Amino acid sequence: MQTRTNGQYGQLAAGAAIGLAAGLALPLARKALMQAPSAATGDWAEALKAEHRLVEKAFEAALATTEDDVMKRDMLLAKIAYALTKHAIQEENVIYPAMMQHGQQDQARALIEDHGRIKTFIFELRNIDAGDVMWRSTLQGFYDDLRTHIREEEDVIFPAFHAALPEAESARLTAMMNWEGFKVA
Ligand SMILES: [Fe+2]
Ligand SMILES: [Fe+2]
Repeated sequence: MQTRTNGQYGQLAAGAAIGLAAGLALPLARKALMQAPSAATGDWAEALKAEHRLVEKAFEAALATTEDDVMKRDMLLAKIAYALTKHAIQEENVIYPAMMQHGQQDQARALIEDHGRIKTFIFELRNIDAGDVMWRSTLQGFYDDLRTHIREEEDVIFPAFHAALPEAESARLTAMMNWEGFKVA
């Protein structure tokens, strides 16, 4: 009897352990899924480009809304904020420091400053009611500013930096960046 009770406790404990493992595995699977499109590109610059396109899509969708689409606007702003936060962590924790290591301190600092302004835009928009007429014009200003930053990264800074990096170092940055993205995905 005693043995059986212990056995039942053992089964319960095992069940709890499995439940705990599943509970932990689920967020990891979700994270892996969220990072998959970026990781699949196999290159840090391509991954960042793909993320730029995704966030632009969310902006275009948000700019197509009206004052009546309050819920949709809130949802799209949350999507934009989430995507930009993950993207910024990847650039700020890996790519910009690598640029600094390679003597591009001024460019890296200017990009970090842009990111600070982007965070301010997100804060401002969160403080404007999505039904307010100011919401759209603030979002448009935000988007214009962000696109200038994106164009600078994609057309000028990243191609030059990528070309200057040995292939093995680029591969190392890609792996490091994907890990940063996975952590915050
Ligand atoms: Fe950036
Ligand atoms: Fe970027």
